Amino acid sequence: MDPTNKAKGPSPHYSLYQREIFRQGGTEGKLPHFSVHPDELVESTKKKLSDRAYFYANSNAGLGWTDRANREAFYSWRIIPRMLVDTNVRDLSVELFGHRIPAPILFAPIGINKLYSPEGELIPAKIAGELGLPYCLSTAASSSIEDVAAANDSGASSIASDGGNYCQVRAGSNAQSPRFFQLYMGHDDDVTMSLLERAWKSGFDVCMLTVDTWQLGWRPTDINLANYVFYYPPGTTGNELGASDPVFMRKYGDELKNDSGKWIDSSVWHGKAHTWEKMPWLIKQWKRISGGRPFVIKGIQSAEDALKAYEIGCEGIVVTNHAGRQVDGAVGSLEVLPEIVDAVGDKMKIIFDSGIRTGSDVFKALALGAHAVQVGRLYVWGMAHEGEAGCRHVMKSLLADLDITMTVAGYPSITRDVNRKALRRNESGVYPRGEHAKL
Ligand SMILES: Cc1cc2nc3c(=O)[nH]c(=O)nc-3n(C[C@H](O)[C@H](O)[C@H](O)COP(=O)(O)O)c2cc1C
Repeated sequence: MDPTNKAKGPSPHYSLYQREIFRQGGTEGKLPHFSVHPDELVESTKKKLSDRAYFYANSNAGLGWTDRANREAFYSWRIIPRMLVDTNVRDLSVELFGHRIPAPILFAPIGINKLYSPEGELIPAKIAGELGLPYCLSTAASSSIEDVAAANDSGASSIASDGGNYCQVRAGSNAQSPRFFQLYMGHDDDVTMSLLERAWKSGFDVCMLTVDTWQLGWRPTDINLANYVFYYPPGTTGNELGASDPVFMRKYGDELKNDSGKWIDSSVWHGKAHTWEKMPWLIKQWKRISGGRPFVIKGIQSAEDALKAYEIGCEGIVVTNHAGRQVDGAVGSLEVLPEIVDAVGDKMKIIFDSGIRTGSDVFKALALGAHAVQVGRLYVWGMAHEGEAGCRHVMKSLLADLDITMTVAGYPSITRDVNRKALRRNESGVYPRGEHAKL
């Protein structure tokens, strides 16, 4: 663990975060303020948040079986450690849509972040900028597109002086750090165009359309609390993208004054599904606005849909089941990843999410063929604890965990070494919850 003995590699030595923590504990008596063990982290989040905020972050569809299936799917793959391999320099960097990123991890789009910390999306956007990892902004965000872009830039500028040249942002975008825009597509095309124009102008250069949430899933823990922030006074949190949109306000501003759910109910989770037929039009519009930047569909769980997405011209898909919040009893997201990779993995970028909690989870998803992963709940739990510091701690811990997993398992390069040969399937066993050493 001697940092002076480390050759400079293509990626930062994320593993040194472990040493920093040990050093602070040993020499200054400073310990991390909360556990990053995911089971403990979710438990302690409960103590930090109101019931509404906690359950919004953690509610699942139905009985929560898809959430469980997401985790079980990771448990049934095991990593095969290799020995006497030179892992002194690791390469975690990957190329994603013209951005060279230092590690294959994105911040997933998560709505209404002000539930978790007063500064809302500005927190993860800034931390993503600091780490050079892509940030994806949700249409259901509680901060405006423009403010989030500025926060992301402010994070990125803090690494610019720190030799952070691993994060190359493609020319054509005015952003200092890669950022994507997640679209919930309403039925007023003028509003959709306005959101996309604003996103592009603010440097969000990949459009990620979410297609699994035309309406919220049936989530009993949210039902029990009638947990819909938009209808509670003051009824403004979560309306920020609409309330800051000139087209939405011109057309519907008066209605929003009388009905705080107007934005979310008509433009976000509006309950009216779009179909494949509408997609070529939307892709064309995004290409026109952005000068041809990538379009990605989020919510794919079958090889058939992955192929359709490819055929209509998507450059990527997100293999996700929305963290098990939409269809209860659905397949675990990692379960279907291999067949989707077999169908389209050489034709388009595959981003994976739903259930990533540790470095070895990231490793497994990449070994099964994902080009990058997204994390959602992990960073929410972190920011719920200590805002910026909590979000940073959780994300740096995940990066360190991944880097250390690669070091000790004997896989120096994500793109060269981490593939299916690194894994073995184990059909038996059920993911054990809460069975670990506790303080
Ligand atoms: C509290 C919460 C809010 C979310 N909000 C959105 C959203 O606004 N748009 C979207 O496309 N996905 C949303 N998602 C899904 C995430 O983008 C992502 O698919 C999922 O959280 C990944 O799983 P993980 O939380 O296990 O990492 C949300 C998920 C959670 C837990």
